Amino acid sequence: MSEQSLPDFKIERLPKGLQDTFRLLYSDGNKWTKYLSPDEIYQGDARELLPQIEPNSIALSVWSPPYFVGKDYEAYLTFDAWQVLLEQVIGLHFPLIKPGGFLVVNIADILCFKDTDMPRIQADAVNKKRSHVTREDVHRALTEHPNYNRYQLAKLLGCSEQTIDRRLHGNNIRGGKHEPQTRVKIVGGLVEEWALKAGFYPYDRRVWVKDAAWENSRWASLSYRAIDEFEYLYFFWKPGITKFDRGRLSSDEWKDWGSRAVWRFPSVRANDDHEAKFPLELPSRTIRLLTEPGDVVLDCFMGSGTTALAAIQEDRRYIGIELEKKYVQLARSRISPGIQIRLIRDSEE
Ligand SMILES: C[S@@+](CC[C@H](N)C(=O)[O-])C[C@H]1O[C@@H](n2cnc3c(N)ncnc32)[C@H](O)[C@@H]1O
Repeated sequence: MSEQSLPDFKIERLPKGLQDTFRLLYSDGNKWTKYLSPDEIYQGDARELLPQIEPNSIALSVWSPPYFVGKDYEAYLTFDAWQVLLEQVIGLHFPLIKPGGFLVVNIADILCFKDTDMPRIQADAVNKKRSHVTREDVHRALTEHPNYNRYQLAKLLGCSEQTIDRRLHGNNIRGGKHEPQTRVKIVGGLVEEWALKAGFYPYDRRVWVKDAAWENSRWASLSYRAIDEFEYLYFFWKPGITKFDRGRLSSDEWKDWGSRAVWRFPSVRANDDHEAKFPLELPSRTIRLLTEPGDVVLDCFMGSGTTALAAIQEDRRYIGIELEKKYVQLARSRISPGIQIRLIRDSEE
């Protein structure tokens, strides 16, 4: 292999192991005859399709993987398989990102991680008065009103429907006693470890503050847990030459979000066609900050096609990968008007 075929920065400054990885990347033995072309969304498992992307060709890969929170599209994964998936996907990114380019992972901690070993929290609810209603009271009321449901019994006896249920069945109708305890699973350390192992360096981390998910506030009835209202963006850098261009954003944009660690914008209002779309603003900001027009942006958990849409709007090219056929179709239909606008614009030039 000639030195000319190596990247145009001093790889000898890198740790030894990483130098070898780079040499392999620039050797001929590593090439497919035909790579995935940009401006297309491919159906399949990210782990099978990522190796078919041209090495050193992607300026930015930005994606939001399955979060392991019980969505339908991640039902095929156990927690171990989920970790293996993310570790492999991150590992497969190193060859295809351009030297000096970025991988941005949008992810959240798992707030309701079932842990059978976790001791049960003994709640001492100082502000809650214990109900005066006894088991005998409930049975007496039931004998007098055999057709009453627990809401009617609760009204009759002046207590909550949980009290009725607890007196009758000795448990809490909202789960609790027989369910394993849940704890927070903090994922940042895992993602960092996988990225470092792949050869990336953690470059930045930001927080996206979204709308609060109040449906989980049922936990708040007897807990100090906060509601779910933010996610992370972890930026990983592949060693190489990175262009810094302050002209990419206006000075107001730099002040508002370009240089800010906390990004505030609402989540997608209606997730009716896909369970977990991220808002267009998320890939748009990332793309504008970290890439140039014409660069290729990758999303290997493409879902409904939001990253492709953002790339088209920002005049970048894209490669999308998505496992589920129905989402590939959805993504293709979401971007087709954008493609038409682009074709019209191209023909006018
Ligand atoms: C959190 S969603 C991404 C949503 C996307 N950002 C959007 O705005 O629509 C994760 C997606 O990854 C897909 N997925 C799950 N496992 C995959 C795999 N092994 N390879 C490729 N895609 C996968 C799911 O079908 C789902 O659409």
